[in-house]
Amino acid sequence: MTAVPRRFREGFLWGAATSAHQVEGGNRLNDWWRFEQQPGKIHGGDVSGAACRHYERFDADFALAAADGHNVHRLSLEWSRLEPERGRHDGAAVAHYHDVFASLRRHGLTPLVTLHHFTNPLWIADRGGWENRETIDRFCEFVRFCAREYGGEVDWWCTVNEPEVYAFRGYSEGVWPPAKRDEGAALVVLGHLLEAHGRAYRILHDEDRADADGDGVKARVGFAKHRPQLVPARPWFPLDVLRARFENAVFNDAVEEAAVTGAIALSIPGVKPVRRDVPELKDSLDWFGLNYYTRWLVKMFAPDPHVAKKGAPLNDLGWEIWPRGFEEALLRVAAYGKPIVVTENGVADATDHVRPRVLVESLLHMGNAIEQGANVIGYCHWSLMDNFEWSDGYRGRFGLYRVDFADPERPRTRTRSAEIFARIAHANAIGGDVVAEVGLAL
Ligand code: GAL
Repeated sequence: MTAVPRRFREGFLWGAATSAHQVEGGNRLNDWWRFEQQPGKIHGGDVSGAACRHYERFDADFALAAADGHNVHRLSLEWSRLEPERGRHDGAAVAHYHDVFASLRRHGLTPLVTLHHFTNPLWIADRGGWENRETIDRFCEFVRFCAREYGGEVDWWCTVNEPEVYAFRGYSEGVWPPAKRDEGAALVVLGHLLEAHGRAYRILHDEDRADADGDGVKARVGFAKHRPQLVPARPWFPLDVLRARFENAVFNDAVEEAAVTGAIALSIPGVKPVRRDVPELKDSLDWFGLNYYTRWLVKMFAPDPHVAKKGAPLNDLGWEIWPRGFEEALLRVAAYGKPIVVTENGVADATDHVRPRVLVESLLHMGNAIEQGANVIGYCHWSLMDNFEWSDGYRGRFGLYRVDFADPERPRTRTRSAEIFARIAHANAIGGDVVAEVGLAL
């Protein structure tokens, strides 16, 4: 593998990621909250409810992150709080996020702010959500508002989180709101989200006129792309090969290339394609946000077309643990020639037994990718603390800090992973002691 100690360049960003709905609690005015109330939608009948109570406890949470050597924190702004009705901004919510940014600053954490992380205000959902082209305009108004309001505190903007996951989970698999099973609609939605990203990119550059961190740059804009490897389950079976190829094309390559070329070209066999050129999309990434978790084996004619490799180690949600794929994904997206921020990477592991080792192994693979030329400038672990894991409810425990959801106070407990990650972040290096301690052979 790699040379140890593995040092990272000065100023490397180390931190953790969260999203508003998953941690804040009490987000009653969005489509996820409404979805959770329907029986059978969320594993174990969970609801986000008070979540981690991070809305009240953010300052203490940021203190934990800062003490662990983090220097960046990825979070999202909850659109439904800030704009509960079209054009009406809630003063208390607006002030709240100013407090959040002030706290991050006090703790030496650079904010990396996502503007759309899966949730929509009810008034957006009720007007057809992302199937409706007008949602692009409404989102752009929200982006303009945020750039003007928070531009003095934020330089790092992530327009949209995982547009491809959002589109396919909600509109093709039907397991997230609005629970449709219509691949044509999924392509329309994905096209709208890409267009929204391109337009948001221009708006953020026009409207964020303040350099918050004094480095001479006022706005650095990207998106977060989930990039699972999609490989044929049976490489000798042409239909699996074909399916893996077209899934990879529509889910990975087309999304990434759209943000480079400006051409949206989304197609699935048997479905009306979505094709158009969007000038604002062309060259719309200052940095590339990569979310990496796993690979999926793709099977034609199977009840579940995505399966984990037989016999492979799995996380608590049944996803294959495959750190080498992280290196491959980084090298693949490095080809776009942009600086890369790992916007998410993590393991659902309630007992924290496997995570320390997987974390270190993953970071060593990231180091390998850097050595081979990938310009990785930061890493945000998913997640700072256990949280509401969408349709998996509270079953997916990704936190560096464990949260006891049975206790109304939601106490946090530091895991060994948090401690290992802290040592790496403080040293800006992966030392031999850490590698040996997690049981990795060099
Ligand atoms: C990503 C998503 C996060 C988190 C994570 C773990 O797809 O952006 O919100 O849920 O997966 O499943």
